Amino acid sequence: MAQIDWDSLGFDAYRTRTVVLAHYRDGAWSDIRTTETFSFTIDPFTQGLHYAISCFEGLKAFRQKDGGIIIFRPEKNAARMARSARFLGLPEPSEEMFIRMCELCVKNNMEFLPPYGHQASLYLRPLLFAPHPQMQLVPYPEVILAVMCAPAGSYYGAHLRSAAAVIPGDFDRAAPKGTGSYKLSANYAGTFVPYQIAHAQGYAELLYLNSATREYVDEFGSSNFFGIKGDTYVTPLSDSVLPSITNLTLQECAADFGMKVEKRPVPLEELSEFEEAGGCGTAVVITPMSHIDMKPVLAAPEVSRSFRYEEDGAVGPVCTKLYKRITGIQFGEIEDTHGWCHKIQA
Ligand code: PLP
Ligand code: COI
Repeated sequence: MAQIDWDSLGFDAYRTRTVVLAHYRDGAWSDIRTTETFSFTIDPFTQGLHYAISCFEGLKAFRQKDGGIIIFRPEKNAARMARSARFLGLPEPSEEMFIRMCELCVKNNMEFLPPYGHQASLYLRPLLFAPHPQMQLVPYPEVILAVMCAPAGSYYGAHLRSAAAVIPGDFDRAAPKGTGSYKLSANYAGTFVPYQIAHAQGYAELLYLNSATREYVDEFGSSNFFGIKGDTYVTPLSDSVLPSITNLTLQECAADFGMKVEKRPVPLEELSEFEEAGGCGTAVVITPMSHIDMKPVLAAPEVSRSFRYEEDGAVGPVCTKLYKRITGIQFGEIEDTHGWCHKIQA
């Protein structure tokens, strides 16, 4: 195995040692098995490909300061995957099975778990998809759950460095009462081209508004939105936002700091009232925003409004404090008083 440079890891698909698999068919789950073959044989008619009958999760395993290994809040990801599966009409993996497969994935890929001290972790990606070949638009009770992993460092190429975002006037993410609050593969398909355009213009992130009226903030393409106003942590309440486990954790951290937490609709206008704003999620951790521009048409040069928070790259005090708290708990540097760290026996 090539030596991994733990300090320069990004967020990439990675060929590790094994993938952990379980197959539900004929009313029962198969035994859990691991494979070193990084390819699937699937029918060309598979629903997962044609109709995006597929959902996934993202969670991280950490090597802590005392040498122990933990997975961060895996029961929350298990519950969210079960909810996504129900939405798609698919059989749901139990919490016990989901966590066992995640643990096995870490144990079988131990040489890819970054050592303590590099701000890096092992990102776990459980994928649940419908392999059944079918043209009819009805659920079929067969799924494959595959848990894969990749050593991961910083999502945008630097830890805790502010980045720019853009609100695209001509793209929406999720319809009201649609798929937005589920972690479905389909939700990401519509972000690829807007991301490509935004990146070419120097924006790291896309901030989507609620698609019904475009008057409220929903979330970033990769993460939830939060804003800091005085001693209040504000985050959108919306039917079309993914319920982020990182956001939930940060709300609890903010409350521990004695801050107020408001989860409510966030009007677009309010973006000018925050002292700090950022994205939060498993992959991005906390990404503070330097500024958020709004463009009527993403590909066009005109910016109609701009909300500024930090000099490019700079990070505000509350984002810094929250980042240190969550990563400190994950790496075992700060006591885990909430019981968020799920220990694994190596
Ligand atoms: N929103 C979107 C669209 C995401 O893809 C993610 C990533 O999982 C999040 C929010 C953050 O969720 P979590 O903190 O559970 O990773
Ligand atoms: C995660 O943070 O786990 C994600 O799934 C985000 C990814 C889609 C960029």
